[in-house]
Amino acid sequence: MERIQKVIANSGYCSRRKAEELINKGLVKVNGNIINEMGIKVSNNDYIEVEGNLINKSEEKVYYLLNKPRGVITSTNDDKNRKTVIDLIKDTRRIYPVGRLDYDTTGLLLLTNDGNLANLLTHPKNNVEKVYIAKLEGIIDKDKLLQLQRGIIIDGYKTSKSKAKIKKINKKSNNSVVELIIHEGRNHQVKKMFKAIGYNVLKLKRERISFLTLDGLKSGDYRQLSIKEVKKLYGELKNNC
Ligand code: URA
Repeated sequence: MERIQKVIANSGYCSRRKAEELINKGLVKVNGNIINEMGIKVSNNDYIEVEGNLINKSEEKVYYLLNKPRGVITSTNDDKNRKTVIDLIKDTRRIYPVGRLDYDTTGLLLLTNDGNLANLLTHPKNNVEKVYIAKLEGIIDKDKLLQLQRGIIIDGYKTSKSKAKIKKINKKSNNSVVELIIHEGRNHQVKKMFKAIGYNVLKLKRERISFLTLDGLKSGDYRQLSIKEVKKLYGELKNNC
């Protein structure tokens, strides 16, 4: 017997958090009955429906690493009919992005039908390192970067410690390039962190998540993770807990 939200996430339908949202909205049925209790346990013999779809409990897990281009939305669908990251990947299985990159942000994005891994990767307590390269308007002030490193208040909470390094300063065109390494992944976090110290982000790219990089992938290209990489990722997550 396992908790319903875990079974839904493991089936690849969506992440555990999304499953909880759907349960709260009354969109999950077990053996034909709507459930509204989060911790309910189900067995292999139970029929689980989510938003009218029968859950396949034994779907093969798949993991993609995409070099996301600009102008693509990180979502499984878009009500404005914009291109989504799912449209870029030729796989008919139901996969979804792990976390989010903004429409104009480029770089490393993982997609999977493994709700368990998605959940672990996005949970702040798991301390997964995310490396961003930001091009900023203006010349960066080293002291201000220190504020970012110590943690800074955005949206009423203090960000955890980060690492920041100046990569380039362009006096002529009045911009700077900074590498920022964070462990959280709140909405628009990097842009908000720079805004909080007085800089607009002109361009943003995610270059690395944990040990995974964009090596060999052009913008818009993707590849599957190897079993070895998936195991290593799970291993890192366990060690960070
Ligand atoms: N932080 C942002 O501000 N935007 C992203 O796309 C990712 C992290």
